[in-house]
Amino acid sequence: MCRGRQQRQQKQKTANYSDVNSQSSAMLKRFVTSMPKVELHVHLEGTLEPELVLTLAERNNIDLSSYFKDVNDLRSKYESIKCLNSFLQVYHRCASVLRTERDFYDATMAYLSRAKKDNVVYAELFFDPQCHKQTGVSFETMADGILAAVDDANHQLDIKCKLIPCFMRHLSEASAMSMWSEIFKYFQQHPKARDKIIGIGLDSDEQDNPPSKFHGVFWKIRHASKSVVGDMHIVAHAGEEGPSNYISQALNLLRSERIDHGVQCLSDDKLVQRLRDEHIPLTVCPLSNVKLGVFDTLKQHNLKRMLDFGLNVSIHSDNPAYVGGYITQNYLAVIEALGMNESDVVCLAMNAINSTFVLESERVVMRQQLRDAARPLLLMLSAEYE
Ligand code: HPA
Ligand code: ZN
Repeated sequence: MCRGRQQRQQKQKTANYSDVNSQSSAMLKRFVTSMPKVELHVHLEGTLEPELVLTLAERNNIDLSSYFKDVNDLRSKYESIKCLNSFLQVYHRCASVLRTERDFYDATMAYLSRAKKDNVVYAELFFDPQCHKQTGVSFETMADGILAAVDDANHQLDIKCKLIPCFMRHLSEASAMSMWSEIFKYFQQHPKARDKIIGIGLDSDEQDNPPSKFHGVFWKIRHASKSVVGDMHIVAHAGEEGPSNYISQALNLLRSERIDHGVQCLSDDKLVQRLRDEHIPLTVCPLSNVKLGVFDTLKQHNLKRMLDFGLNVSIHSDNPAYVGGYITQNYLAVIEALGMNESDVVCLAMNAINSTFVLESERVVMRQQLRDAARPLLLMLSAEYE
């Protein structure tokens, strides 16, 4: 548990929380908007706004007119998504407009520019190479475009970003193996990419696609030559709508270092204890979970319970163009719906920093940036409790 959180809980015993008036609530919202943030669960293809999908389709002469009439029609398709399966259908169709290095550059730049507005200082960005392989795009084309944008955004916008390609679990393990071979070759030809492509993830439809299906390919990744691929981190979506047992499988079989989503963990007490004891990061995406029907409403979301159990949870945006909000909107929505207070917010933001795959010295800097931003708010609130 965050130290700040423990201290705050002790303080709440002597202070009535209802004393915290609307002024402090407005201050909390202002703080959330401006605080430095870390984004650990966002899919490049999930950041494609309808306008960009249209622009790229036109640029590549891809006729999507049988699918939607215009930008408003496409936006209403986004809005009508109700579950993971219906989401993935729209997601794949729209992602198919990404064909050239320039497309990947533009999509990445568009996301990082938007993230900058939310004061994201560091992002670990997922993308789905197999999705684009199906339309004949090589890993090299995708990676070259994305990496060029990451470099330019670092210089022009002062935002840092690293990349995590994911395997799509509805495809076979053989398909993931062949993708891994292509990624491995890319590392051999582009040794500098090791600093930026820092891991492999697992995403897409959980139903009947347990982590065990990918045991072999993740074994191979863990045993790949370090001199070629560097330190490859492993993450996996698990327990989004799949059972808690998939979280255990991802940890035990794939050796996943973080669990993306993981909200189904509370049905297994032993697992909760392990997640807490081992501080395993759970990257939770509240607006996505409601949009895709994992929870009926945000008020029913178990994020606050997960935090109160002492789990290492953090808030992220998943597929922000589709689910109605980028990272700041996720924070604001949970403050409103779950009554999160300033200590919860700082704890969630600190957890995200602690869960990054960067050098400890870089985490120290990010923690200090967050503390500096939080100081006026915490000072004001502690004055209210006097
Ligand atoms: N869940 C699972 N797979 C995904 C998602 C998601 O929200 N977005 C892209 N691939
Ligand atoms: Zn996701």
